[in-house]
Amino acid sequence: MNNEETTLCNQVEHNSEGYRKTVALRDEILRRPLNLSFSAEELNAEDGSFHLACWRDGILAACLVLKPLSENQICMRQLAVQADLQRRGIGRKLVNYAESFAKQHGYHEMVLHARETAVEFYEKLGYRKEGDRFTEVTLPHYRMRKILGNRKTKEQFN
Ligand SMILES: CC(C)(COP(=O)(O)OP(=O)(O)OC[C@H]1O[C@@H](n2cnc3c(N)ncnc32)[C@H](O)[C@@H]1OP(=O)(O)O)[C@@H](O)C(=O)NCCC(=O)NCCS
Repeated sequence: MNNEETTLCNQVEHNSEGYRKTVALRDEILRRPLNLSFSAEELNAEDGSFHLACWRDGILAACLVLKPLSENQICMRQLAVQADLQRRGIGRKLVNYAESFAKQHGYHEMVLHARETAVEFYEKLGYRKEGDRFTEVTLPHYRMRKILGNRKTKEQFN
């Protein structure tokens, strides 16, 4: 597959049609296998986050959420790639896009809670584990972090 020709990453607005597609994908890949689902309160609270999507031939292939934690630090959440498109470079492409997006918005540090099964994927992209294993949504997780560099202020982008 030639990802450069067939995939496109962009931001989708909260509560838009594109956003609803990302919620459906996150539900399918991350929640339903655990017998969990999103509450209306949980989704309403995502208003203050950035929602990024990766499209392949116009079909949603992957998505993630970026939640600002402070002026410099942003949290990557809910990365999900369509089951039949995993291990084809789409997750890497969307994370690379998310890092550029975060830097352009003035954040210089990405943090995340990685499922233990995804730690190696994040390590390949330059993330490092921090602290002890903990449980979230019934699964073992690790905190991970990456310094994005390019410490620019938001004003420099205006
Ligand atoms: C984990 C996930 C996001 C990775 O995305 P992906 O598109 O499948 O991964 P990519 O093809 O971009 O992989 C990039 C590299 O990481 C490796 N990799 C991907 N998933 C991996 C995994 N689970 N374990 C170990 N290595 C992995 C790939 O082999 C590739 O390595 P290479 O560069 O040496 O060839 C995706 O598989 C997914 O959605 N999984 C289910 C949901 C999930 O676990 N989400 C993360 C929650 S924290």
